[in-house]
Amino acid sequence: MLKQLFKDSFYIGTMLNDDQVLGDDPNAMRIINEHFNSITAENVMKWDFIHPEQDTYQFQPADRFIALGQKHHLFLVGHTLVWHAQTPDWVFRDKSENFVTRETLLQNMQDHIFTVVGRYKGKVNGWDVVNEAVDDHGQMRKSQWWKILGEDYIQKAFEYAHQADPDAKLYYNDYSLYFPEKRDKVVQLIRNLKSDGVRVDGIGLQGHWGLDYPEKLDEIEDSIIAFSELGVEVMITELDVNVLPLPDKYVGADVSFKFEWQKEYDPYPEHLSNSLQKKLADRYADLFDLFYRHRNKISRVTIWGIHDGQSWLNHWPIEGRTNYPLLFDRAYQPKPAMDAIAKLIEESNAL
Ligand code: XIL
Repeated sequence: MLKQLFKDSFYIGTMLNDDQVLGDDPNAMRIINEHFNSITAENVMKWDFIHPEQDTYQFQPADRFIALGQKHHLFLVGHTLVWHAQTPDWVFRDKSENFVTRETLLQNMQDHIFTVVGRYKGKVNGWDVVNEAVDDHGQMRKSQWWKILGEDYIQKAFEYAHQADPDAKLYYNDYSLYFPEKRDKVVQLIRNLKSDGVRVDGIGLQGHWGLDYPEKLDEIEDSIIAFSELGVEVMITELDVNVLPLPDKYVGADVSFKFEWQKEYDPYPEHLSNSLQKKLADRYADLFDLFYRHRNKISRVTIWGIHDGQSWLNHWPIEGRTNYPLLFDRAYQPKPAMDAIAKLIEESNAL
């Protein structure tokens, strides 16, 4: 049981896709009850899903997600409020397709955050308030948020979220945070927010990593330490370990990145060889070894899905591949990585 292994260390979370939220996956529910104590919704709380039009909110799926978490006493993560992707066009453009003014965009942001965070006040334990604001070179991402509002959109998002639920934990979440330039920029951003008195409780490192990248786990370790020195919680969010070849050597997780299917990029359509399965198990063990050594800094580790069949890595960045990035296989059976993690923790505790 993962949650038993880590009960004195950090929350161990997973992600529910839209079908699982809507309740027709009893195998997934069984696994959650056995192994996890925190959940994140894959899509149903994203802006385009929950607030597709200015005057239309679609709350039922998110309500079910919240009810499920409450029923099973799980730490609930709200994902996500302000992001460059999965955000409808009306947020940034008026009916004549012109960009809205700063005032209008701030109003849209405030309405959204007040309504969504307000609805789940006291229920969602922590929010990914801002997702992916920094690019891979350590510059501000040139998103519509940034273009219209400038850098202080981040501060506004955190302030609105704090007003809407003063007790919720508020997080900044991003991928490839082991890149030194990206790490430094996030350190600087969070330090500035904190010195301006803005409440930020934690930083989530999206763990969209692979068998061979990052090349050295010290790169992740340096970020865990740097973020923790800011006095915030560190979380590993969205953990999955890609086993397939990388088109264009792209190691990030930008959802807009797309690549055409070619056979050489989909080498294991039937099953994963024993040697790769072992490599995956070793990789998971090494990652959890790192997390466990830093358990005084890490408050949660969330895996991006329950079983291989549901992983977004079967569709991104190439549609229609067969990937094996998670801890349970397509038949909902635990993979060797589960044993490897358990063995590692038991051995560490015996020392
Ligand atoms: C992904 C989902 O898994 C997919 O279902 C969706 O089509 C695109 O987004 N970073 C994030 C997540 O913060 O929300 C993304 O999730 C993966 C990258």
